[in-house]
Amino acid sequence: MRFLITAGPTREFMDPVRFLSNRSSGKMGYAIALAARDRGHEVVLVSGPVSLPAPGGIPVVSVVSAAEMLEAVSTHLESCDALVMAAAVADWRPVQVSEQKMKKNQAASSLELEPTPDILMTLKPRKGSRTFVGFAAETMDVEAEAGRKLAAKGLDLIVANDVSQPDSGFDVDTNRVVLLTSDGSVVRLPLLSKREVAERILDWVEMGKTAGGDGGLYLRAASGRLEKQWDFIREIDKLKSVLRRTLLLDGSRYENDAEHSWHLAVMAVLLREHANEPRLDLARVIRMVLVHDIVEIDAGDTYCYDEAGNRDKVAREQVAAGRLFGLLPDEQRQEFMSIWAEFEARETAEAKFAAALDRVQPLMHNFGPAGVVWKSHGVRSGQVLERNRHVAEGSRVLWEFAESLIRDAVKRGYLDP
Ligand code: CTP
Repeated sequence: MRFLITAGPTREFMDPVRFLSNRSSGKMGYAIALAARDRGHEVVLVSGPVSLPAPGGIPVVSVVSAAEMLEAVSTHLESCDALVMAAAVADWRPVQVSEQKMKKNQAASSLELEPTPDILMTLKPRKGSRTFVGFAAETMDVEAEAGRKLAAKGLDLIVANDVSQPDSGFDVDTNRVVLLTSDGSVVRLPLLSKREVAERILDWVEMGKTAGGDGGLYLRAASGRLEKQWDFIREIDKLKSVLRRTLLLDGSRYENDAEHSWHLAVMAVLLREHANEPRLDLARVIRMVLVHDIVEIDAGDTYCYDEAGNRDKVAREQVAAGRLFGLLPDEQRQEFMSIWAEFEARETAEAKFAAALDRVQPLMHNFGPAGVVWKSHGVRSGQVLERNRHVAEGSRVLWEFAESLIRDAVKRGYLDP
C-alpha cells in the first residue's frame, strides 16, 4: 500500500522569531512511518519541525505551517491509498505577520488570531476509496470528542488519546489509545510503546483495505497482541522438556526447567525473610525466577560444572533470548529482556536473592538422592563450595545453611571431600 503520513507540530509565526505551536514531538507519526516502511509499504512522510532522526528510506517533505502542510498533503494525496494524519496541526495563526521582529514596546497587548485550514476537512471531498485515519488529542471526554471528530471529518478510524496523562500522548515513548471506527467499533488498547500502537493501526488499515473493514476484521486486528502473547505461551511449553542434571528427590527421573522455575518461585515467597535486603521487591524476584531459564528452550541446559559448555553459554543464550522474547509484543519483549538481563547480571538485591535461590534448590536435589549426580560427574566439595559462594550476596542465612548441607553431604559420603 501507499501511505501518506503526517507527523509533528506546525508553527504559526507572528514575526521572524516568534510562533504559536504545541508540544507534539512527532514520535507517534514517525513510529507509524517506520512501521509501515518495515512492512514493505511505500511511505511519504510530511513532517512539521521535530528533532527526530530522519527515517531511513522514507522521503520526507518538511513543512512549517498548517498552510504548508495542507499544500504538501494535497500534492501527495492523489497517489496514496491511506492518509494518516498524526500531526498536531496548530488550530490558530496570527492574522498579522510582521516581516521584522516586533519590538517589546510596539507589541499590542492582544494577538488577533484566525483559524488555520483544517487539512482533513479540506481534503474530505477528495477522499474517494482512500482510508483516512485521524488522531484526537484530548484532555477530557476523550471518546465522545474523538467520535465527534470521526464523524465530522469523515474518517474511517480515529486514534484518541488522553494527553493529560504523563505516560501517554506528547513527547513520551508510550501511548494509551482508544481506536474508534466508522462502523462503530471501540477498542481500548493498554499502555503500549508508540511503535506497538503504530503496528495496531497498520493491522487495521491493511485488513480494512483488503477485506472491506467490517467489525470482525477490526477485532482481529486489535487482537494481534494476544496472538503474539499466545504464541509465546505455547512456545514456553517446551521448557517442560528441557531436562536438568538434577534428579527429583525420590530419584525417579530428571527434573525439568519449568519445574525448577516453579520451585524457585515458591521458595521466593517462603524465604524472602532470609534475604539480606529487607525491602526486597518480591514480585520482581518471582518474575526473574520464572523468566530466568526460558532461554534454555533454545540454548539447552548447560551443566554447571561443564567447563566447555559454559564458555559459549552467554552467546548461545543471547541468541535464544532474542528469538524467544522476540515473539512477544514490543514492550513485553523489552520487559522480559530486561528481567532476564537483570537476573544474569546479579547486581540488584532482587537478582542476588533470586540467584541464591537458584543455587540452593539444586543443592537440595543433589543431596536428596544421596549425591548420585555429584558422584557420576566426579564433582568435589571444593567445587560445590566455590560455585555456591555467591549465595551469601543474596542471603547470608541461606549461605550458612548451604555450607552446612555441603559439610553434611561430605560426612554422609554423598560428595567427595
Ligand atoms: N487536523 C487537521 N487540520 C487541522 C487540525 C487538525 O487535519 N487544522 C487533524 C489532525 O491531524 C488530527 C485530527 O484532525 O488527525 C484531529 O485534530 P485535533 O487537533 O484533535 O482536532 P481539531 O479538529 O483541531 O479540534 P479541537 O481543536 O476542537 O479539539
